[in-house]
Amino acid sequence: MKTVAQDFFEDPRITEAKKLIRQAVTDHQKKLTGVKASNAALKESYAELLKKFGEQRGGALFYQYLGSGFGKGALVELADGSVKYDFITGIGVHYMGHSNPDIIEAQIDGAISNTVMNGHLQQNTDSARLVDLLSTQACKYGAGVKNVFLSTSGAMANENAFKMIYQKRAGAQRFFAFEKCFSGRTLGMAWVTDKAAYRQGLPKTIDVDYIPFYCEADHKGSIEIAVNAMKKHLYRYPGQYAGFIMEMIQGENGSWVGNTEYFEALIKVCKENNVSVFVDEVQTFMRTHELFAFQHFKLDKHVDVVSIGKNSQVCATLFTDDHKPKPGLMSQTFTGASSQIAASLKIINDVLSGDYLGANGKIEKFHQRFKGNLEKLAAKYPKKIHGPWGIGAMVAMTVFEGDETKSKQFTFKLFENGALSFMAGGGSSTRVRFLMPILAVTMEDIDNVCAIIEKTLNEME
Ligand SMILES: Cc1ncc(COP(=O)(O)O)c(C=O)c1O
Repeated sequence: MKTVAQDFFEDPRITEAKKLIRQAVTDHQKKLTGVKASNAALKESYAELLKKFGEQRGGALFYQYLGSGFGKGALVELADGSVKYDFITGIGVHYMGHSNPDIIEAQIDGAISNTVMNGHLQQNTDSARLVDLLSTQACKYGAGVKNVFLSTSGAMANENAFKMIYQKRAGAQRFFAFEKCFSGRTLGMAWVTDKAAYRQGLPKTIDVDYIPFYCEADHKGSIEIAVNAMKKHLYRYPGQYAGFIMEMIQGENGSWVGNTEYFEALIKVCKENNVSVFVDEVQTFMRTHELFAFQHFKLDKHVDVVSIGKNSQVCATLFTDDHKPKPGLMSQTFTGASSQIAASLKIINDVLSGDYLGANGKIEKFHQRFKGNLEKLAAKYPKKIHGPWGIGAMVAMTVFEGDETKSKQFTFKLFENGALSFMAGGGSSTRVRFLMPILAVTMEDIDNVCAIIEKTLNEME
């Protein structure tokens, strides 16, 4: 027997309404054909809006960016009528691009359900579907992280991971993390993130010791250095380490890629010392040849806890049975908006069914096109650009020898010229990075963005 809800969602009027909306979206998208300058008539009111918004939010925005609410694939329209290529996607969130008709349809299903939000006390069947999908996919090559706890931000997913690890290792106060890692903006994660400015004036919450990240140019040496650093810390604070938070590819530091042998060497020390292995996949989720980067690096057997976010729209902490928190440790009002959860299911299922993964999947093909184009630019302008680096849907380069000020100027100029990127790392090793909307991008988009990069390089000395 059907529920009333099933009858409602299948009502022909709903089907017809969704068809009409899809038609309207695709009809209006025909007007977006490429990069476009702002509309002179909107310039003044747009500048005023940005100024006021900057003041009211307590600080100006990085870019002069307020979206109009419409776009087409990798193209986004701003409220001043300009159109730009979005190759940073809200720092890795809009994997499906802008105004994606399939995702809008999924969101409508969520939006017409009974509540705006789902929460830990009351959630709908989509939440159960999402948890099952994540659990099944995470464990498909033998990992044990079958439990999935939904939450609303990457930082919160990480907080939950820390809490369950600390509870399991009760008494151990310290954590390991990689040098130059980024873990989020909560009071806890501010002390994990390896950037002094991000915790200036904040009371200490977590004792973290940092391990140098993998260096491809010194494969063996970097493994030895990292393992020795870890052993030294363990010798100084025996029994004091609860866990090790690992990014497989350092996103905020500029797409620095790890290595299986390197991770395995560190994990071996973790296992010998009762240190939980926690992989932070808030940025890497769905960006490598596998759904999870720990699967890409073949670490399935070793992971204890994994966090995801960004591309997944809804964030989550996945964990093994022996990291199950005791009752009372974890809960939150929200797990996510109904439309967010519906979109999450659609995006993950599309990545799984749409030939995106694998060594010859679409993610790798787009990566190769972008990488190839940037390599050509690096050969043509050896003083202005180096790289690129990264893996799959994470690509970064340096401009002007990684100088922070010039890299910032470059990103602003690139923005003016019609493409969104973002800074990564800092100081003299600043990188400019890109997080493409893989579910919507085309080879032509990549070529067009590279032409904008070249134009911008030519405008700067
Ligand atoms: C690796 C990593 N962890 C955690 C976070 C924090 O996620 P959120 O900003 O959703 O709290 C980020 C965000 O950039 C991240 O890249």
